[in-house]
Amino acid sequence: MTNAHPQDAAYAASLKSPDTFWAHEAEQLSWAVPPKTVLERTTKTLPSGTKHQHWKWFPDGEISTSYNCVDRHVDAGNGQRTAIIWDSPVTGAQEKISYAQLAEEVATLAGVLREEGVKRGDVVLIYMPMIPAALVGVLATLRLGAVHAVVFGGFSAPSLAQRIDGSKPRVVLTASCGIEGAKGPLPYQPLVRGAIEQAKHKPSKTIVWQREQCRWDPVIKEDGERNWQRLVKSAKNRGVKAENVPVKSNDPIYVIYTSGTTGAPKGVLREAGGHAVGLSFSMRYLFGIKAGDVMFCASDIGWVVGHGYIIFAPLLAGATTVLFEGKPIGTPDASTFWRIVDEHKVNVMFTAPTALRAIRREDGEHKFFKERGERDGLRTLRALFLAGERSEPAVVNDYTALLEKYGAPGAAVVDNWWSSESGSPMTGLAQLPDSWHKGRSDSQIKPLETRPGSAGKPMPGFDIRVVDDDGNEVPQGKTGNIVLGMPLAPTGFTTLWKDENRFYKGYMLRFGGKWIDTGDAGLIDKDGYVHIHGRSDDMINVAAHRLSTATLEQAISSHPSITDNCVIPAPDPLKGHVPFAFVALSASAGTIPEGELLAAINSRVRAAVGPIATLGGVIIAQGVIPRTRSGKTLRRVLKQMVEDASEGNFDKEVEVPATIEDVEVVERARKVIKTYFTRKSKL
Ligand code: COA
Ligand code: AMP
Repeated sequence: MTNAHPQDAAYAASLKSPDTFWAHEAEQLSWAVPPKTVLERTTKTLPSGTKHQHWKWFPDGEISTSYNCVDRHVDAGNGQRTAIIWDSPVTGAQEKISYAQLAEEVATLAGVLREEGVKRGDVVLIYMPMIPAALVGVLATLRLGAVHAVVFGGFSAPSLAQRIDGSKPRVVLTASCGIEGAKGPLPYQPLVRGAIEQAKHKPSKTIVWQREQCRWDPVIKEDGERNWQRLVKSAKNRGVKAENVPVKSNDPIYVIYTSGTTGAPKGVLREAGGHAVGLSFSMRYLFGIKAGDVMFCASDIGWVVGHGYIIFAPLLAGATTVLFEGKPIGTPDASTFWRIVDEHKVNVMFTAPTALRAIRREDGEHKFFKERGERDGLRTLRALFLAGERSEPAVVNDYTALLEKYGAPGAAVVDNWWSSESGSPMTGLAQLPDSWHKGRSDSQIKPLETRPGSAGKPMPGFDIRVVDDDGNEVPQGKTGNIVLGMPLAPTGFTTLWKDENRFYKGYMLRFGGKWIDTGDAGLIDKDGYVHIHGRSDDMINVAAHRLSTATLEQAISSHPSITDNCVIPAPDPLKGHVPFAFVALSASAGTIPEGELLAAINSRVRAAVGPIATLGGVIIAQGVIPRTRSGKTLRRVLKQMVEDASEGNFDKEVEVPATIEDVEVVERARKVIKTYFTRKSKL
């Protein structure tokens, strides 16, 4: 491997000697108790007696993530550096918060939370918009050694209630409203109160950050509601603060809910030590970020990408994070991202392909990018990272050409593949920091070349394989199920929040405990680049958000006239895919016009899940949902026919399993799909 590219060499080393590899990375952080052991391989036994592989990163170490994200930089004399730049184009707010200011705010809020009863190991639920208080809330929770459960601020009351029941928080941290793009304020009060009313578990306190755009009024003290700013003011007057409480490396620090194949969301659990080490490593190695650099991750703190790379990773690195409360378009237009890069001197940007598609739809000629570029406003930009869904080559090629002309020398577009479970990118093209360059020749230090259509090469610690349905590896270049060998890299999950059984059943059982199933299908090409083709399970990726078909079907089935339904992903030029339903009506329902039914279904889906799950279309027909003899819905068959039909192929063969109950159903479905898409193409 002596002539291997540094990314290939690092990957091989991480799998061959994980102890040596990650010991070095752990040394970059400050530990309350430095770990003597790097990796411990063990097994776990389920109540059924089944044993499965388990592992622990840095098991005897103790660490405070909030110390490493905040106070460490102040103690090192860098308190004056900017930690957060908040940019909120709709409210017109821009704010810079230094590490020293952040330390003060975090210590004070931690004092408040302690007074409100939060202690080590308790859960604090974060349901927040993109404002600095959200970051302070997360870090203050960590400071107490407590665990936070993060819920995307766009989820409906029932979805939030499910997550409250799942995580059983002592306290909910929230705000009076979110700012939903150009639409303006979205009051949180009915959502949060509604969720707490519906949930079986009742948090003892709801602490509300009051925003002037829309207040939470009244704050009902008897119901445990508190005004965040008032509590902080009182704590400051009394000098109340709390110190960092380190936790064991394998203690949980946060739970993030993601869609499962059943209706109930899965609480993916992140452990303290592995999370801090893995994220801080990825900042240097993959993103090429060092202290003092500026990172702009245009996601939301409610999704894993945003949670990791808006909050923790930049702060662990001592860099500046840009917290953006806006949209790629409409706030006020498609120039916003590039304005931010210019104004805040962004070095690395991270977004989803959907956002770039939206910009391209409004600004097909890239006028805004070029205008900034011609004024040399984008010269700081070294890389544009894309994740959450597949980046089509057209997007990668367009932005590669733009960056070549207007970005920093050698600037690249980097597709990287991830999931809530992985906690950090599993693939990508390492941008490599200066320290990797020592003693290496020029040809070796260049990042690997971009291969549009692929998500790059594996990241250290993620043993990525492609297997057939029996779990046997397929030859390079062949499509199959993408799985991971164990242990996962340090940021990877090792279990689900209080549900070891579901962890085993959902991720290990399919391949007999040998591999972790990622739920994605794809291939590894002859040069080792990983290509992700999409989900192989019943998940839908909408605008880089993962939704469960089962949850949507549950919401649809609550419609009194619907007797049967099935949801599949339909291709969408902006969002990649949108949910699409096949529904059967009861005999007594008579005829309901398609538009009317779609609106009725959508109001149920939006109320049950949230507006991000809005359906793109519906086909009303009897007997067109194929099932196996054991009653399993064959969504894959309908998905394939809809995909083909959206490209104008109505008669293409579709693979139907031998276990299908009634093969006639497929031909009936084909007919209605053809009618639907022919009609739509004429509109
Ligand atoms: N709170 C409340 N509602 C929200 C919300 C939030 N945080 N985020 C989205 N919504 C609502 C929207 O207002 C919209 O409601 P509407 O149907 O009443 O108009 C609905 O959910 C769908 O939103 P979205 O999927 O964002 O579609 P859009 O048409 O409003 O915007 C894009 C399109 C491309 C601009 C938007 O999808 C986008 O920015 N995508 C990038 C995705 C991303 O960054 N993902 C992060 C994962 S890495
Ligand atoms: P989530 O857990 O919500 O982050 O969703 C993870 C899923 O998003 C993955 O399993 C993939 O299906 C998809 N995904 C994320 N990044 C990429 C990528 N770069 N290319 C293709 N799919 C991706």
